[in-house]
Amino acid sequence: DQTRQIEETLDQFRLSKVQLLEVKKRMRVEMDIGLGKDTQDKATVKMLPTYVRQTPDGTENGDFLALDLGGTNFRVLLVKIRSGKRRTVEMHNKIYAIPHEIMQGTGEELFDHIVHCISDFLDYMGMKNARLPLGFTFSFPCQQTSLDAGILVTWTKGFKATDCEGEDVVGLLREGIKRREEFDLDVVAIVNDTVGTMMTCAYEEPTCEVGLIAGTGSNACYMEETRNIDLVEGDEGKMCINMEWGAFGDNGCLDDIRTEYDKAVDELSLNPGKQRYEKMCSGMYLGEIVRNILIDLTKRGFLFRGQISETLKTRGIFETKFLSQIESDRLALLQVRSILQHLGLDSTCDDSIIVKEVCGTVSRRAAQICGAGMAAVVDKIRENRGLDHLNVTVGVDGTLYKLHPHFSRIMHQTVKELAPKCNVTFLLSEDGSGKGAALITAVGCRLREQEK
Ligand code: BG6
Ligand code: GLC
Repeated sequence: DQTRQIEETLDQFRLSKVQLLEVKKRMRVEMDIGLGKDTQDKATVKMLPTYVRQTPDGTENGDFLALDLGGTNFRVLLVKIRSGKRRTVEMHNKIYAIPHEIMQGTGEELFDHIVHCISDFLDYMGMKNARLPLGFTFSFPCQQTSLDAGILVTWTKGFKATDCEGEDVVGLLREGIKRREEFDLDVVAIVNDTVGTMMTCAYEEPTCEVGLIAGTGSNACYMEETRNIDLVEGDEGKMCINMEWGAFGDNGCLDDIRTEYDKAVDELSLNPGKQRYEKMCSGMYLGEIVRNILIDLTKRGFLFRGQISETLKTRGIFETKFLSQIESDRLALLQVRSILQHLGLDSTCDDSIIVKEVCGTVSRRAAQICGAGMAAVVDKIRENRGLDHLNVTVGVDGTLYKLHPHFSRIMHQTVKELAPKCNVTFLLSEDGSGKGAALITAVGCRLREQEK
């Protein structure tokens, strides 16, 4: 009977193919709303134009700085790109911490900190006087009107610095550089991490026209026909669209598959009611869903001898890396118990079996709904081109995709099942998004020269 009750709880997370097809269909509806002139005001999936009109062609050249802000690590990079027959890219980078107080302090503190890190990096590289062009990977929704202007729509994930929403983030960075009065930089492009990832991968593989992040957050971008983007003038060619699909469901359209645990995670988050799809499928929230289920099962007496420990009450204990370890098939249950022990959870053998099943169920649903979203994207590209069959490559990054033992496989499988007319290859970005941001910056510099 206990087993039955646990299974009933977990059944809410088990989606049928019919339900997943429904998720795909709804994603497509929201995409069209985001692209349409008369509907985009109320769009939840914002479909933001990026002013990136082509993937790399190998002619990109020069030395660039890149920033990579918004994932697990904040990085400053120097990227040296050489065009020609023997194309090469050389990268140097340094990782910096962004303390919690700064993520959620004032905008000025945040940008002062960023500029401080750039300063440290320039010292480290011995190039304070270089005035290099810079590409800024900023992994949050930005309303762009050009390559080098982006108004922050809203913070997502763990960031909540004041006085930034509604402001041009490039402007905030330039002001930070001015305040420091120490060096000058030429900010050429602001780039979402999905777009940087797509460009990094497209440099190696020209069929790459989609970018996907399954990490702290979840999002995708793809090359859309300009004629379908009402916000952008012209009917020729393509432009990359940053979907901001994390906000899918914010209008309630996923409420039938959201569970009470999803709702609890949402309510205690920094941005209640927002990013509902992201909260079901990205690394920052999966552990929290698991923790909420475990608390409930413990309350009902099925786990941990009915005792809710202080640890279990602690937000954020189940990071992606722990979930990944717990779900690893190579681990014996004894090792699962020792991970739980390490987290401060005293478990019996039975407990560890249940915990592992809870983790597996939550991450499977995450991979499946992420796959359903991706199926909508590739099928739209296929329809755009009037094809019966499409071959396409998706550039991917993110700790959930890279570290989790099953997420990628289940996601791939789901895309295959839900978009059978597309042959989708997933290409892991080995170089993060900084390389892509530098490639975009190279094109931006060239366009500026031509306009002169
Ligand atoms: C990195 C990219 O490799 O992956 C970042 O360089 C991106 O731009 C990140 O934000 C996403 O993964 P995570 O798990 O760090 O959020
Ligand atoms: C969040 C951000 C989005 C980013 C994604 C992955 O959803 O809003 O811009 O691409 O996280 O980092």
